[in-house]
Amino acid sequence: MNPIKIFLNENDIPRQWYNLAADLPTPLLPPLGPDGKPIGPEMLAPVFPMNLIEQEVATDRWIDIPEEILNILYRWRPSPLRRAVYLEKYLDTPARIYYKDESVSPPGSHKPNTAVAQAWYNKQFGIEKLTTETGAGQWGSALAFACKLIGLECKVFMVRISFDQKPFRKHMMGVWGANCVASPSPETNAGRKVLEEMPDTPGSLGIAISEAIEQAVTDKTGKTRYSLGSVLNHVLLHQTIIGLEAKKQLEMVGEKLPDMVIGCCGGGSNFAGLSFPFVADKINGADIKIVPVEPTACPTMTRAPFAYDFGDTACTTPLLAMHTLGHAFIPPPIHAGGLRYHGMAPLVCQAIVEGLLEPRAYHQLQSYEAAITWASTEGFIPAPETSQALAAVIEEAKKAKEEGKERVILFNYSGHGLMDLMGYDAYLSGKLTDYELPEEELKKYTKDLENLPKAEMRKSGKW
Ligand SMILES: Cc1ncc(COP(=O)(O)O)c(C=O)c1O
Repeated sequence: MNPIKIFLNENDIPRQWYNLAADLPTPLLPPLGPDGKPIGPEMLAPVFPMNLIEQEVATDRWIDIPEEILNILYRWRPSPLRRAVYLEKYLDTPARIYYKDESVSPPGSHKPNTAVAQAWYNKQFGIEKLTTETGAGQWGSALAFACKLIGLECKVFMVRISFDQKPFRKHMMGVWGANCVASPSPETNAGRKVLEEMPDTPGSLGIAISEAIEQAVTDKTGKTRYSLGSVLNHVLLHQTIIGLEAKKQLEMVGEKLPDMVIGCCGGGSNFAGLSFPFVADKINGADIKIVPVEPTACPTMTRAPFAYDFGDTACTTPLLAMHTLGHAFIPPPIHAGGLRYHGMAPLVCQAIVEGLLEPRAYHQLQSYEAAITWASTEGFIPAPETSQALAAVIEEAKKAKEEGKERVILFNYSGHGLMDLMGYDAYLSGKLTDYELPEEELKKYTKDLENLPKAEMRKSGKW
């Protein structure tokens, strides 16, 4: 039998992260300040430590991973590359389906790859406390875990709907010593304002980000910073260890490059982590289809404009050039809580503008159906976010059968769903429905973008 669990040993772990900014044919548009002018690194200093700001603006292709970070990651890295032979057999497909299993980390997802790095760089810079937001709770629990190991205090603002739907994530954060509150909260000006206007709001990542930033920048000791679990360049950078490992593992079983790379997208970090090393191959001429997947309820990449927008609801962040549903977007309460952000990583968006990526959106029910097929064949129960990627994988495997083509499909198994069983319960008892963001809603939320600077769509025209 060909191996279906492909392991690297610790000595083979990648020792550098890959930075797509070095290879994009058209550079990223710069972040802008409130005056509409590009911001300098010093403007981010109250929010992030300077060593991470340097990574945020870096254009070096390779950035060394400090040994002390690797020493923490060895707890679960290199993560296994697995081949989904049981699913392949069930679908009777000629496709070979490989997945990078990021569910094996202690918090259960890819998020600690950057949480550990961010906590470490903050500690090096003399910071004592991190604040953050979390949607599904995956990011909050990952940062709580990293702060515990590295010795930082951690405060998490958790989007109200997930706080109620996923109480166990909150308990995980408690085990790792973090303080988690529902957002909007009465603890910040941003939270109080939203609560006054919309007392019953399910919350949003945009609101939670405003609260976490406010609490970091108003700490008079200067020892608190904010940490973001996705979207920013340095976060995506830290996740590229996933794709770099996957490349070595595919080689070990004699595969050349994959034909398709698939990942779900909330802010873009797990997708980017797996795919960016392969995007580099595509830039250099390889024929690879690279597919970021999102929910139809939150169609940032497939329907929203490419525009300058704020990263948060209270408009406190710099303006980023990205596909965006508008910073006031309140997403419908679908169960893939980690995929409800209004924006998308600028690096992912610039790659979309270039034509290097082919985004797709799937309905919630198709994703749950895919998750059940997966659990019934491979056995593992995926996170609802991961199930969105699975919907695309299964569709592609069926297409390969119809066309009678062997195809290598690689996707990111971004997390397990063992803390997300309420969503499965809702699906199995027939309570879930599909939702497609109506055009009027999209127009309503993106109207504010008209008053912000325009983002030019720059592309080389090669793809
Ligand atoms: C399991 C899982 N996958 C994917 C995501 C989406 O985030 P990102 O696009 O940053 O990978 C999340 C976010 O919480 C998640 O928990």
